[in-house]
Amino acid sequence: MAFLSDSLARIKPSATLAVTDKARTLKAQGRNVIGLGAGEPDFDTPVNIREAAKRAIDAGHTRYTAVDGIPELKAAIARKFKRENDLDYKPSQITVGTGGKQVLYNALMATLNPGDEVVIPAPYWVSYPDMVLLAGGTPVAVETRMEDGFKMKPAELDRVITPKTKWLILNSPSNPTGSAYTRAEIKGLTDVLLKHPQVWVLTDDMYEHLVYDDFVFATVAQVEPKLYERTLTLNGVSKAYCMTGWRIGYAGGPEALIKAIGTIQSQSTSNPSSVSQWAAVEALEGPQHFIPEHNRVFKERRDLVVGMLNQANGIRCPKPEGAFYVYPSCAGTIGRNVTSGKRIENDEDFVTELLDAEGVAVVQGAAFGLGPAFRISYATKTEDLEEACRRIQRFCGNLT
Ligand SMILES: Cc1ncc(COP(=O)(O)O)c(C=O)c1O
Repeated sequence: MAFLSDSLARIKPSATLAVTDKARTLKAQGRNVIGLGAGEPDFDTPVNIREAAKRAIDAGHTRYTAVDGIPELKAAIARKFKRENDLDYKPSQITVGTGGKQVLYNALMATLNPGDEVVIPAPYWVSYPDMVLLAGGTPVAVETRMEDGFKMKPAELDRVITPKTKWLILNSPSNPTGSAYTRAEIKGLTDVLLKHPQVWVLTDDMYEHLVYDDFVFATVAQVEPKLYERTLTLNGVSKAYCMTGWRIGYAGGPEALIKAIGTIQSQSTSNPSSVSQWAAVEALEGPQHFIPEHNRVFKERRDLVVGMLNQANGIRCPKPEGAFYVYPSCAGTIGRNVTSGKRIENDEDFVTELLDAEGVAVVQGAAFGLGPAFRISYATKTEDLEEACRRIQRFCGNLT
């Protein structure tokens, strides 16, 4: 439609949200559908956080706040960065937005000019390349391999950097693979970046707290302090504190960049929800015991899903270090036929046929830039996961 802007032609709607919507529609029609598409914890927001929000409403914290966050939340975030990441950020180096998603979007809008390149290891979170495109930049995907744990090697990074490279986006633990970089692996990448002073790093630490089997999380500016001046450390409360709907994300970084992010926000949404900001203060400063409790459950589910998927014909599923996703390959099903006679040509066919035949909603690898594979979010009830995996086994077993 000619009325719409050219920039809209460059992007597509989020595939993960589309799968969730489709599963919801089928459910509403009475189909027995298990949705494994959504990237959010099934646990409720902890009670102390909900209570803090109610208190904030009653105390009258219901008006506009500073565009980039109330001082109390910025102070809590500064303490979090120090306590958990050994990073010093002053309040003027911290910005709060309506979800990590907005902070990321603003950061790209604030920095990209036409022709600027952004290196994104694939598979990647669906929004990275499209946000880069919206901001006028050029995404440069670097395909990783399952055999390498879906992690980019330093030499691969070195090879794709050009004088036009502006950012590397690093996401560990990763959506969609769950894989996480060790401190040594991060060091390998930061050594490369030290040779290229034009490249900044946007480290998306949204899944920081969701790691299993004693994996130790590390972040870029902590591993290589020499990159502190060109790192944006992005995080939020959505995943670890089960607060996806509250929409609070934040970042720490160099003051000039943080200020620019705030300027963009001031001309679009202004402050994130005042009530949610007070809830986030409680999340960061209050009791943290539910994080390991949730992680015990997530780890059990991960092990269950990995075990069951590896028994499905044609599926190969690695065991990742963190987040609440697995990213199995369905290469062994390509070229085979479902009972209706339809041939599976790619991972999009795989997920469509799986949803039709067995009512299990997963997301095709094509959406994340590396296939043939699919993403399962195991942030859902264990019984449902077990049943979904049984159905996947049956679906794959019926292929001819
Ligand atoms: C890798 C990654 N980064 C950022 C976000 C954004 O989270 P939010 O906007 O809810 O803070 C998500 C959410 O799915 C994510 O998976």
